Parts: sequence; C-alpha cells; structure tokens
Amino acid sequence: MKTFHVKTYGCQMNKHDSERISGLLSSAGYLLESDIERADIIVFITCCVRKHADDRLYGNVAALKKLKTINPSTIIAVGGCLAQNDKDRMYEKLPHVDIVFGTYNQEGLLGLIEKAADGRRVLSVGEEDQELTKPKALRESRFHAWVPIAIGCDNFCTYCIVPYVRGHERSYPIKGIVEDVTDYVSDGVTEVTLLGQNVNSYGRDLYGETRFSELLGELSGIAGLERIRFTTSHPKDLSLDVIDIVREKASICSHFHLPVQSGSNKILEAMGRGYSREKYIQTALKIRSSIEDVSITTDIMVGFPGETDQDFLDTLELMEEVGFDQAYTFIYSEREGTRAAGFTDKVPKEIKDERFRRLVELQDRLCLESNTALLGKKAKVFVEGKAKKGKLRLTGRTDTNKLIHFSGDESLIHDYVDVRINGAFSFYLVGEII
Ligand code: SAH
Ligand code: SF4
Ligand code: F3S
Repeated sequence: MKTFHVKTYGCQMNKHDSERISGLLSSAGYLLESDIERADIIVFITCCVRKHADDRLYGNVAALKKLKTINPSTIIAVGGCLAQNDKDRMYEKLPHVDIVFGTYNQEGLLGLIEKAADGRRVLSVGEEDQELTKPKALRESRFHAWVPIAIGCDNFCTYCIVPYVRGHERSYPIKGIVEDVTDYVSDGVTEVTLLGQNVNSYGRDLYGETRFSELLGELSGIAGLERIRFTTSHPKDLSLDVIDIVREKASICSHFHLPVQSGSNKILEAMGRGYSREKYIQTALKIRSSIEDVSITTDIMVGFPGETDQDFLDTLELMEEVGFDQAYTFIYSEREGTRAAGFTDKVPKEIKDERFRRLVELQDRLCLESNTALLGKKAKVFVEGKAKKGKLRLTGRTDTNKLIHFSGDESLIHDYVDVRINGAFSFYLVGEII
C-alpha cells in the first residue's frame, strides 16, 4: 500500500487544509506515514504571508532532492498559498517537485498524483471560481476539529497577500456548519475552532449581513460541545452582539484574537485597517468590562513604511493600555503585488530590528502581568497530554487559551478538570487539580 506524509506551514486554515488532504488521500486508500523519508507521496502545504516563510519552504523542499535521488518514484507535491502565488518560479526552481497545485480545487490532487505516477510533472494552479466544497478531514485530534466558516478575505489591507492567494470572502451556510459540528460531536469532538480571516464579517456575502453571532448561538446549542473557539476577529467588524453571546454562553470561549497591527492612526490608515487607535481601545475595553476573565490576544507589526519613532511609541503605549494576554509579533515584510510594496519611506532593517526587540520585551512583561493576575483563580482545563519536560506531568489549555502545567494522573488526558492557578510565567501557568 502506498503511503503519504503532509507537512504544513502557515496558519490554522492551512492546518485544516492539510487535514482535508489527508482525508482525501486516505479515502483513496493511501496510508498516513509519520516519517517523511519513508513516504511514497510527500505533500507540502505552504504559506507566503512573509518573505521568511517563502525562504524556509524553498530550503526545506530543496533538501528533499536527495530523497528523490535514492527513490525516484517518490512523488513530491507542493500546494497552498506560496504555490498559488509563486507557481512558475516554484515549477522552474524545484525540478524535483512533481506537482505544484494551488489553494483552489485541492480535491483535484488525486488526479494530479495519477499523472505524476505516469512520470509527468504537473502545474495545476486554478483561479477562484470553484464552488466551496468540503472534503472530509482526517483530523489530527479525536477531540478537536477546525471548522472553516469562511474562506478568503475582502479587506485588502495594504501589506497583505492573503486576499490574492485565497480569493474573496466566501462563507459556508449556517445549516451545513451546524450539521458538520453535530457530526463531529457524535464522533467524540468536544472542542471546535471556527476559522476565517475575519469571522466578524461571516455571512455578509451569503446573507447580505453578518450572521456571526447567530452562528455562535446555534453552535452553542449542540449538546456535548464543550468549547467553541473562533479566530480571527477583525476590530473593524466586531459587534456588540458577538461580545454579548460570548458572555452569555458558557461553551463559547472567553478569548478574542483581535489583531491591532499598530497603535498609530497614521499607520493604521496607511495599512487600510478601517479603525482608529481610539476605536480599537474602546472595543478592547468593552470586551474586558463585559466578560469576566476574558483574554485578548493580538498581532502586531513593526517597520511598516513610514513608521516613525513616535508611531512606534504609540504602538507600545496602546499595548500597555490594553494589556494583551499574548501577541504574535512581526517585522513588516514586503510582499510583491500588494499596495504597500509601492510605498516609499521604507524603514531601515536596523531600526526594524531594534523596534522588534523592544516590542517583544514589552510583550513578555505584559504576558507575565496578565498571568500573574490569575494567581489563586480557578480554571477549567482540557487536559491535552503529557508535559514535555519538568516535574509536572500534564498540560492543557484554559477556556482563555492559556497553556497550563499541573501534576495529575495520565488517565485524565482528554478530560476536563478544574485547576487552581498557583504559578505564573510569561508563556505558561502552573496549577493544581482541585
Ligand atoms: N486575517 C487576519 C490576519 C491573517 S495574517 C487579520 O486580519 O487579523 C496573520 C498576521 O500576519 C497579520 O495579522 C499580520 O500581523 C501579519 N502579516 C500579514 N502580512 C504581513 C506582512 N506583509 N509583513 C509582516 N507581517 C504580516
Ligand atoms: Fe490580510 Fe487584512 Fe484580510 Fe487579515 S483582514 S487576511 S490582514 S487583508
Ligand atoms: Fe494562512 Fe499564510 Fe495563506 S497565513 S492564508 S497560509 S499566506
């Protein structure tokens, strides 16, 4: 029997795409192989959001050349966002890659594998016209499922490549999502993560208005579904009805991932984000005052064209004011084809690096502060597995998506337990089962 291995880069949408591709291949009779070097078919699902992601991918795929020399019948396929964006260069630069396929019509991969097995190289990168389909995923976890609720993005932030490689925003209908999640739950899933580039505009393309809170309400009625997570919230579209339903329904997690990108109005404007610093702070404070012990996490970027010292200080000040529980921090990376690639007044590398260092330093302190504030509190934790190192044996996540380590019997793995928090560090909590 032929085997396959899927390697995933990038965001959660890609993790989900990889699970679908695994589902597709296993339903066609291929077996999942965890060792990449032993697999007959190797699939890469790629990201191109920053240049670093491109470079890493080219390096890793180039390294497989040796494997192909030893076993020429191995089929190497590269799909995902970078393949969509950079198809011709990839096809040319990586001659040992058999298949380059894009983000649309991933189900076509089986046919492409047949062609490649006949010794043909294939480049199959389509345009965004296919209907949204839903091949069955082969999930990595029995207990957790990724649930895309919308694909693509209509926002065209000036720095961002995503709308070009994932197309316009297209939502899946509420009914189908609820049916799928109900099936997952009867299959043993207790936690789902709803995915979209901007979950707050969910449904606008289908229904003419956003229906995200309605979707959350329907999902919260599914018996046995303990946790509903969702990402990403866009600050410009986050409405009060969503905050309300998160407060009202225990199974909807008290966590908002609300990317701010910058604390300077001038930079937010140039990025085309559609909100001001003041509006962002107001939204974050509204969330904090409405929902007890909620966590707010974010994405922040430094070094966008035109960013001055003062703009950067505005970002640091906003971070202090909101007190983010966690932040993914990035250095601006120019992406060809985006509007910002044409902006002048680029920030020199040394300045970007120095700002990045200060950004991370501040966020480490804010993480520690937000975790310290939880000392003595109780939290419900889903036990994910064994802790990687240290004396504490178990590890899990709180409703607010914080990592927590504690001691306990391994039989508790994949259960929910109540834990008292008695230790706080920047990147995790420590607790004891009560
Ligand atoms: N849809 C999500 C973001 C998806 S991309 C949202 O709007 O929040 C994830 C993060 O990558 C972004 O929030 C941004 O901080 C970062 N990012 C996107 N393009 C980038 C670029 N060109 N350079 C650096 N960081 C970038
Ligand atoms: Fe990119 Fe902006 Fe869309 Fe997020 S909202 S995916 S940052 S264009
Ligand atoms: Fe995700 Fe990267 Fe594509 S962030 S949508 S995998 S460009």
